[in-house]
Amino acid sequence: MSESGISSIGVIGIGVMGNGIAQVTAQSGFTTLVMDVNEELLKKGLDTIGRSLDRLVGAYEKSGGEKGITADAKEQAVARLSITTSLEGLLGCDLIIEAVSERLELKEEINRKLASLGYGKILVSNTSSISITRLGAAYGKPDRFMGMHFMNPVPMQQGVEIIRGLATSDATYATVVALCHDLGKIEIPAEDKAGFAINRMFVPFMNEAIRVVEEGIASVDDVDKCTYCLGHKMGPLMTADFVGLDTLLSICDVLEEEFGSFYKPSPLLRRLVESGQLGAKTGRGFYTWEKFKASGVNPDIARYRIK
Ligand SMILES: NC(=O)c1ccc[n+]([C@@H]2O[C@H](COP(=O)([O-])OP(=O)(O)OC[C@H]3O[C@@H](n4cnc5c(N)ncnc54)[C@H](O)[C@@H]3O)[C@@H](O)[C@H]2O)c1
Repeated sequence: MSESGISSIGVIGIGVMGNGIAQVTAQSGFTTLVMDVNEELLKKGLDTIGRSLDRLVGAYEKSGGEKGITADAKEQAVARLSITTSLEGLLGCDLIIEAVSERLELKEEINRKLASLGYGKILVSNTSSISITRLGAAYGKPDRFMGMHFMNPVPMQQGVEIIRGLATSDATYATVVALCHDLGKIEIPAEDKAGFAINRMFVPFMNEAIRVVEEGIASVDDVDKCTYCLGHKMGPLMTADFVGLDTLLSICDVLEEEFGSFYKPSPLLRRLVESGQLGAKTGRGFYTWEKFKASGVNPDIARYRIK
């Protein structure tokens, strides 16, 4: 029996975060039902999960069982995963994790729809920045709603920010803390202010790194190199590409709306999103990407280099 008392979890959205979340819930023993808008995206997401699990099996074999998971554990995780293209399909789940694109109206619409379909259990959002209180109001059961902000990549990162809305009940909070433990994660409580703790700090860092390139102060690779000296494993521009530039832009907009112009997204970030270059997930952002591996600096950005 899990510490949370939950046995089945619904995940809405199988993008960068949803596939990682679904992998971890399935690996942790939860029956996991993933919903997205079409089967093609769902199959692509399941393939990503399969490859990630294969890497863990490889790590197990290479390390003589010290790291990773057994082939049997992989098969069990895969067997716990299933897919649906309808929200109705999720109504039997004990808890739902919403991980769709960072757009307020979309998240509100999903919350209202789940409520109108009769879902009444705990619903959490993986939002990076949007008011949990506002999303809880759209659900109509704000006591059973809160933020559960996983970090990317979910299978590797242990921290999960947990955010109460104004009306989140103690029982919901306790269940979500227990769920973090069930998933092998460490809960990091944060208050319901735009960007919570991590993105309030880190998003301005990425945004400023983009300005440094935009103003010709340093090149893309040199900006990232600078931060290795700070002990960072990955520079802010490569991280931005991993996060998704559309997601980053949305977070900047939410932060700017709540806290003012210091958080205003850089024009270059907006131009990249307008051009459909969203980072690793589209193959082009600050870097060019092949199968989520950076292969060079995006030539469209390289011209910002100091000559
Ligand atoms: N990318 C990150 O590093 C990161 C980290 C922490 C939290 N988050 C948050 O997680 C959430 C998801 O971000 P992401 O990076 O996975 O985005 P993404 O763009 O990779 O994926 C979003 C997914 O939502 C799906 N979707 C859109 N509308 C839908 C609908 N009506 N019903 C079902 N699915 C729908 C899309 O098809 C897509 O698969 C956002 O709220 C984001 O802020 C992102």
